Amino acid sequence: MLFFLLNLAARLVVATAEECQFPAIFNFGDSNSDTGGLSALFGQAPPPHGMSFFGGPAGRYCDGRLIVDFIAEGLGLPYVSGYLDSVGSDFTHGANFATAGSTVRPQNTTLRQSGFSPISLDVQWNEFYDFHQRSQVVRNHSGIYRKLLPKNGYLKKKLLPKAEHFSNGLYTFDIGQNDLTAGYFSNMTTDEVIANVPDIVTQLTKVVRWIYGLGGRNFWLHNTGPVGCLPYVLERIPVIASRVDEVGCATPFNDVAQVFNSQLKDAVVQLRKDLPLAAITYVDIYKLKYALFHEGKKHGFKQAIRNCCGHGGKYNFNLNMGCGGSKTIKGKKVVAKACDDPSTYVVWDGVHFTQAANKFIYDQIVGGAFSDPPVPLKMACHRKN
Ligand SMILES: *[C@@H]1O[C@H](CO)[C@@H](O)[C@H](O)[C@H]1NC(C)=O
Ligand SMILES: *[C@@H]1O[C@H](CO)[C@@H](O)[C@H](O)[C@H]1NC(C)=O
Ligand SMILES: *[C@@H]1O[C@H](CO)[C@@H](O)[C@H](O)[C@H]1NC(C)=O
Repeated sequence: MLFFLLNLAARLVVATAEECQFPAIFNFGDSNSDTGGLSALFGQAPPPHGMSFFGGPAGRYCDGRLIVDFIAEGLGLPYVSGYLDSVGSDFTHGANFATAGSTVRPQNTTLRQSGFSPISLDVQWNEFYDFHQRSQVVRNHSGIYRKLLPKNGYLKKKLLPKAEHFSNGLYTFDIGQNDLTAGYFSNMTTDEVIANVPDIVTQLTKVVRWIYGLGGRNFWLHNTGPVGCLPYVLERIPVIASRVDEVGCATPFNDVAQVFNSQLKDAVVQLRKDLPLAAITYVDIYKLKYALFHEGKKHGFKQAIRNCCGHGGKYNFNLNMGCGGSKTIKGKKVVAKACDDPSTYVVWDGVHFTQAANKFIYDQIVGGAFSDPPVPLKMACHRKN
């Protein structure tokens, strides 16, 4: 009875609070939320990326929309433009600093050497810092911009956020996965990767603190997914990937992901203590992605680990030929192409999730059932603990 009353009271608190009306989204992350950053720098993710929704490549490593796109839709905002994408971008309602292959910690390798993006989270922070400051100078058409911009600076002014959007906006994060795989790909043991987790988490939360320092208040942090269920990891490190669970996910990688998540969750508790005006929501993406691999059939998915877009091998995935790529093998051209119905697959290209999987995840998180505190997306500006 007491539990019932407490539960009811909690719901009333949420029910009586106003919805947040976030005017903007500022996103930091990797390919899980890249809406055009890496494509603008290193070439578009080729067709068939984008096939299920955009009708062609749209800067996303997916057949359609990402979780951050569904979040934008849910908040009644336009899709968030990639900050580095100078073609057709509109930053009135936010900016997306994520790029595919981004890590929290700067890597000491180039993209060509290791596949990891040079736009690590510290660089994303630099971009944001500059954007925060200079967007307002340009909007005001003041300072040097009085001379640099055409007399009628109105159009440019309209493409940038108002100053108050930075304090009322929602700051979303989905990053960390690549720091873990970067460790493994540079031949670290599981123990060595785990030894790096505290520093990775510290670097991540430092950026949250810095944004708070600039006036950001509303944070929505995704934890990292079960990377041990993804073909690119399973294929690349077969030795570690040989310890698998009942559906074929590699346990060591997933254990490391959970170590990261548990330390991130603890760090969020500390952040709440240190940042008294911040509303920080920690979202358990791991649990949902894991569920997709283990009980996807219950949710309408026919394939779990085996990916939709690719060619050959155990998982329809080839490390040397990404989705949309082609190769001549024994005089015959083979193409890594999409399956007939991506909506029945969890994994799109061996690395990323399909739009259908992203939609499933969004539908589960929007109400708050996988969040700590358990507040719905539209209530994520209200501090609860
Ligand atoms: C890169 O090198 C610096 C200097 O040696 C080191 O402190 C840092 O940990 C390295 N970063 C990674 C991700 O290995
Ligand atoms: C922009 O204009 C507003 C209102 O006049 C002012 O408060 C603000 O300081 C200006 N910001 C910059 C960066 O020029
Ligand atoms: C990791 O080990 C493999 C096999 O010994 C080797 O070919 C590769 O160069 C190593 N990678 C790094 C980054 O040290």
